Amino acid sequence: MAATTEARSWERLFAARTRGEVGEGIAAVLAFLGRPDVISFAGGFPDPRTFPRERASELLAEFAADGEASAFQYAPTRGLAGPLDAIAGRIESLQGRRPADDELVITSGAIEALELVSKSFLERGDTVVVEGPTYLGAIMAFRGFEADVVAVPMDEHGLEVDELERQLAGGLRPKLLYSIPDHQNPAGVSLSAERRALLVELARRYGFLVVEDVAYRELAFDGGAETSLWSLAPDVVVQTGTTSKTFFPGVRLGWAAGPAEVSARLVAAKQNTDQCAGALGQRLFEEYVRRGWIDEQLEASRALYRAKCDVTLAALERSMPEGAHWTKPDGGFFTWLTLPDGGDATELARQAGERGVGIVPGSLFFPDGRGNDNVRLSFSLVDEASIDEGIARLAALLR
Ligand SMILES: Cc1ncc(COP(=O)(O)O)c(C=O)c1O
Repeated sequence: MAATTEARSWERLFAARTRGEVGEGIAAVLAFLGRPDVISFAGGFPDPRTFPRERASELLAEFAADGEASAFQYAPTRGLAGPLDAIAGRIESLQGRRPADDELVITSGAIEALELVSKSFLERGDTVVVEGPTYLGAIMAFRGFEADVVAVPMDEHGLEVDELERQLAGGLRPKLLYSIPDHQNPAGVSLSAERRALLVELARRYGFLVVEDVAYRELAFDGGAETSLWSLAPDVVVQTGTTSKTFFPGVRLGWAAGPAEVSARLVAAKQNTDQCAGALGQRLFEEYVRRGWIDEQLEASRALYRAKCDVTLAALERSMPEGAHWTKPDGGFFTWLTLPDGGDATELARQAGERGVGIVPGSLFFPDGRGNDNVRLSFSLVDEASIDEGIARLAALLR
């Protein structure tokens, strides 16, 4: 009897690295997903209208008719040759530099790329600098390896790189610096060209690796982009990318491009996570790129998200009380709302949930409890016709 009772107390058996506060934040974001009655600005999910249903089924039928084996088989850990070539070619055409064969690895989503970087670099207590605020999944990935995650502030031009420089001069010694330079999650801002140049210079001077997450890079409303950190400094940057926002997240497909020596470590680390990213998704994405379908879809996706962003910003303008302000994104999925003085976003999120509106309090995007006067509003998934009503309900709660 006693043995059975004791065996159920798993806590004492769990590894120390799993005991940190992880997972609950994402669960809070996902909680609103399956509820049709909620107007949700919570999850950073793509709109299902962008999903290539017909084209995916057409490709599957082709693979079957052609007797293709590779799409259904295990793949090499680095990725299948065709999809690697297609992704390298796409990076070259969009960023002006082609990753060499030993610089690119296909991953099971960007989150796996972050996990592989963490696994390859981080010991307990190592410092990782992130933008404050930043993507919750990245904080969790770094914390999962017991890193000390330190947030450096941002403003409307992205990470405050001069503040980073001051902290480095004062003795801060990160192994990794994680940045989302384009249409950042959650702040919706982009890193300016001057700051990009200084950031990679600092990486060289102080000897850390920049992890550049380009999840929203291709979703600029006008299609443009600043020079990527990786193309600026491929010697000190590993870029993580995803097809989740531009193709569909159901394939769980991403990539990491970085120095050959780093890339080799990521491949080694991948051998005992999933061994290889799913070949079916790799082949679907390859064909989607080769046939030019991704560019057609991107045009439609940008227009869709631009329209939703416009409606959201107009609704905020109309109904938010004095003292509230928010970022004006030029791409991506998010605007970052700052509440009037004394605003409590955690309490607001609770009350909003009761009134059928899903939002995420800003503190989830900081490693240090800041951000409780902020809210992330994601306009990507919410139905356009419900945006005004959702924002009006939020504003009423603030009054
Ligand atoms: C900045 C950022 N990076 C990575 C991801 C995750 O990408 P993936 O679906 O490829 O794991 C997200 C998804 O929300 C994101 O916002």
